[in-house]
Amino acid sequence: MSPDGCCRQEAETTIGALTDLAAMRRLGVANGLEDAGRGDDGIVAAWGASSAGRLVGAVCLERRGSLQTVNWLAVEEECRRRGIATALCAEVEQEARRGGARQLWVTARAPRFFVAQGFERVAHGPERETLLGGCLSCPQYGRQCRPEVLVKTLETGGS
Ligand SMILES: CC(C)(COP(=O)(O)OP(=O)(O)OC[C@H]1O[C@@H](n2cnc3c(N)ncnc32)[C@H](O)[C@@H]1OP(=O)(O)O)[C@@H](O)C(=O)NCCC(=O)NCCS
Repeated sequence: MSPDGCCRQEAETTIGALTDLAAMRRLGVANGLEDAGRGDDGIVAAWGASSAGRLVGAVCLERRGSLQTVNWLAVEEECRRRGIATALCAEVEQEARRGGARQLWVTARAPRFFVAQGFERVAHGPERETLLGGCLSCPQYGRQCRPEVLVKTLETGGS
């Protein structure tokens, strides 16, 4: 086990609101994500995972037109498969529900992670076209990244 970062047995990881959106983007880019250049206007809220004072994971809820989407999800490599991304996505879902969203969308380069979170693949439809539209000009599209659109229906609390 690595002596650094959150893989130290004693290092505790905490999840909380993140206001430093530049740090979220830096973490994402360092972990292979591409900045589509949409800026911060659509970002509703962001969360970070910190370990030993270091940002090791991040995510945001982003509004894209009428769609609520998960974006900028990344966890540092040595901290993966410990449930950090799951915990970050739970925050996004909670916030989306609080805002009245019935669905949560994602353009995913790691679709299997999102399937594990209860998302379903979307094979066609206008939302898919909208969300993938932004990928066509990305230099990673079809090379390092073959994105899929997925959606999760959010429970409305039984009403
Ligand atoms: C995708 C990513 C965020 C997952 O982070 P993580 O903290 O390791 O995820 P979790 O530990 O919460 O994983 C929960 C479950 O999702 C699934 N999962 C996670 N990573 C997976 C992967 N690479 N492939 C397949 N399934 C995966 C597993 O079922 C896992 O449960 P398990 O470990 O008990 O098998 C991380 O691998 C990452 O940052 N990758 C690079 C950036 C990226 O692709 N971001 C996603 C953009 S859409």
